[in-house]
Amino acid sequence: MSKITWKAGTLEYPLPPVMVSCGTVENPNIMTAAWTGIINSEPPMTYVSIRPERYSHGIIKESGEFVINLPTTALLTAVDFCGVKSGKEINKFKEMKLRAGKCSVVAAPQILESPVSLECRVKEIHSYGSHDMFVAEIVAVNVDDGLVDENGKLCLEKADLVAYVHNGYFTLGRKVGFFGFSICKSALIARKKMQNVVVEVKERKLPQKKAFDKKGKPARRDDRKRFFKDDRKPFSGRKRSPIKKKS
Ligand SMILES: Cc1cc2nc3c(=O)[nH]c(=O)nc-3n(C[C@H](O)[C@H](O)[C@H](O)COP(=O)(O)O)c2cc1C
Repeated sequence: MSKITWKAGTLEYPLPPVMVSCGTVENPNIMTAAWTGIINSEPPMTYVSIRPERYSHGIIKESGEFVINLPTTALLTAVDFCGVKSGKEINKFKEMKLRAGKCSVVAAPQILESPVSLECRVKEIHSYGSHDMFVAEIVAVNVDDGLVDENGKLCLEKADLVAYVHNGYFTLGRKVGFFGFSICKSALIARKKMQNVVVEVKERKLPQKKAFDKKGKPARRDDRKRFFKDDRKPFSGRKRSPIKKKS
């Protein structure tokens, strides 16, 4: 592999195109944000980088709260819509038929259709130029109970989450490992299997059909329709005479 060097850019993917909800349950707004991530475990902390011109920017700066809602394939139209339309002009919850639900700690609403909603309280705001980074503590997590199994384990792989890669939205593929699998002895067999995955691209061969049968009639059904006078019931068993060519 050889690489080419480009000028500096933000080419770090995949990212979750999260739906950031803010405001109140009565007067809510949503914006899509891909510039987001976890920055600390204890206490759990995250950030969202927002351009000052966004309608949400002013709301979050004033309230000091927002909610990060994880996106799913079912929510994808809303994910994109909330990233191209401003709450200055429209109510995106109403337009996308989403429900604004009460949170447990913050006054900002959560999107009830999202399987995971992180309630966040802003701790710091850093300006870097184009975006302001809202550093926040995650103060509560709301999870769809349908994703929690009988042992209390969260099965997030069942949520059908989506990823954002270089202007495109993607569903997640198959699971190809787990945390620490590279040094796990019991996972050796699975690892070997994974290493043996070969992606073959085969050329698709279409069957060659004969144009005419033994009696000289067209072999394909649609051709028969064209060939016979009465094309309403071409296979009824009645004898038909071929269309005579006009000279
Ligand atoms: C996939 C996607 C990711 C986006 N990520 C960000 C982001 O990280 N920060 C940001 O300021 N705008 C981002 N945007 C643009 C805003 O979501 C968009 O300007 C939105 O209309 C702002 O809504 P508002 O004016 O109601 O706050 C993104 C848009 C899309 C479609």
